[in-house]
Amino acid sequence: MEASVRTVVCTDAEALASEAAGWLCERALASNGRFAVCLAGGSTPRRLYENLASEPLNGRFPWPRVHWFWGDERFVPQDSDDSNYRMARAAMLDRVPVPPGNVHAVDTRLLNPAAAAEAYERNLQAFYGATSFDRARPLFDVMLLGLGEDGHTASLFPGSAALAEREAWAVAVVGERPQARITLTYPAIESSRDVAFIVSGRGKRDVVEAIRRGENLPAARIKPAGNLHWFLDRDAI
Ligand code: 6PG
Repeated sequence: MEASVRTVVCTDAEALASEAAGWLCERALASNGRFAVCLAGGSTPRRLYENLASEPLNGRFPWPRVHWFWGDERFVPQDSDDSNYRMARAAMLDRVPVPPGNVHAVDTRLLNPAAAAEAYERNLQAFYGATSFDRARPLFDVMLLGLGEDGHTASLFPGSAALAEREAWAVAVVGERPQARITLTYPAIESSRDVAFIVSGRGKRDVVEAIRRGENLPAARIKPAGNLHWFLDRDAI
């Protein structure tokens, strides 16, 4: 698979959400059969999800054959305002005809973050049909990622032991942020046909510039099996 890197700059956050949602819809429509999307958390992608769940895209998107995963999750109840699962449900999944079996959330009702990470890894491997990656057969069709001001993505934070994890597909991240997290590791994130960063706002300008300068920040280390896309608004560059 010949990888490529593409940057799309949009006039503002609303245009960014619309452009990225349209792109995701076209990627799904261009595919056949099962299509796996791994969602980003945080606040930036909310409008993207709302766009996808609204006219005209919601009538075109192939909801019945698309499966939904999360790149990371806070270890909080699924109805918590801090839950990435809750955000995606409210912005999109509860508003469109998604088969319940197509939603693969991190189960934060389990005993502890490590148990949640292990269960999530088992679910990912059951979906993929193997316990090791084949670079020619990506786990995800599209991986959406946000970018933190410190250069983190998902819950891969600077200096974290999770950055070195090359075997597990998902790990618990405890003590690095106020809430414990579960995050996909680099091997799982990179097992994607298309990885798309969605970055908006003046607050991200410095970190975007640092990545452009080649700083070895966690987000900059993503080497997808497939294509890498940066969707940015003008405030972020
Ligand atoms: C999370 C996200 C995290 C997020 C970035 C950017 O759970 O918080 O996965 O990686 O994408 O922190 O967040 P904003 O979009 O809110 O700036």
